[in-house]
Amino acid sequence: MSLVNIEDFHVKLIMVGGKGGVGKTTCASAIALKLAMDKRKVLVISSDPTPSLSDIFEKEVGDRETRVHDEYELYALEVSSEIVLKRWKERFGPEIYEVISSFASIDYDFVDYIGSAPGIEEEYMLNFIMELVEGGSYDVVVWDTAPAGHTLRLLKLPELFLAHMEAATKFYMNMYGYLEKIKDAVKLKESKRTLLEIIAGWESLSEKIVAFIRNPEAVKYLIVTIPEALGVKLTGRVLSELEENQLKVENIIVNNVVKDEDCEFHRKRKAMQDHYIDFLKNTYENKNIMLLYCAPYEIKGVERIMEISRALFP
Ligand SMILES: Nc1ncnc2c1ncn2[C@@H]1O[C@H](COP(=O)(O)OP(=O)(O)OP(=O)(O)O)[C@@H](O)[C@H]1O
Ligand SMILES: [Mg+2]
Repeated sequence: MSLVNIEDFHVKLIMVGGKGGVGKTTCASAIALKLAMDKRKVLVISSDPTPSLSDIFEKEVGDRETRVHDEYELYALEVSSEIVLKRWKERFGPEIYEVISSFASIDYDFVDYIGSAPGIEEEYMLNFIMELVEGGSYDVVVWDTAPAGHTLRLLKLPELFLAHMEAATKFYMNMYGYLEKIKDAVKLKESKRTLLEIIAGWESLSEKIVAFIRNPEAVKYLIVTIPEALGVKLTGRVLSELEENQLKVENIIVNNVVKDEDCEFHRKRKAMQDHYIDFLKNTYENKNIMLLYCAPYEIKGVERIMEISRALFP
């Protein structure tokens, strides 16, 4: 097992990704706890639509930042789609309304309608997290992401987000241009800012997000996988997609590893796992591959999370 120092995780954001059910929430919680024990103020966030931090910490978390450890400064938050959409509306609602109402008579409800467009919520999640990080209330934010595909889509956010906004605004622009031409005929309401100024604002937000997620000093990406064909395959895919987007992954946790070959079943299982572990080590020579043994029980409650922390950072 490669030894990793917890100091290596003294960044602003740690993003834990991987396929469904491989132990993302478990590892994110264990890393968060270890960082909190290391005198950092830590927030662990789950953006999974099925809340899971409440289960592992055995405490109702929900969409409020909730302290989950009596001694250490460890907080948890389950980000719901409602809260992300609410923030999105607060951020973009007035601008969108300003733009559209400058040439059309609309109710503010129209903003809700735009906010319900597919993708907006995921697209805005990254900004939500960036704001939490930059808000400075925490030393580190550990993000337990939704299963792989979902998160990758999220990380394409900046481009997607702009494309989405631009597609919508092109339509308004055309209409706006047309109305400008005939403005003597129709009475056009004055917009405080021009549409182009507003779009420029969206663009710079998007650039800010890109710079943030690509800054290796601030953000660390970690992938959790299992030593089985499907886990290995998906890891390859996730890694190349992240790296294509210039997001560097340094650490891979291989979870559910059989510790003792104490029976025929475990011998066979270990042989199978060893094959995939060797493959991962050979394929990702320059990455830190951490093996995490399968405990004989499920990981629930601070004591058990602590055991995982110790296994990861001995
Ligand atoms: N090393 C381990 N030893 C024993 N049990 C483990 C270990 N890692 C994870 N588990 C158990 O496996 C189950 C799935 O783990 P976890 O919820 O962390 O996965 P996940 O990747 O977050 O899943 P999802 O994609 O559904 O969010 C849980 O019941 C957890 O307790
Ligand atoms: Mg989970």
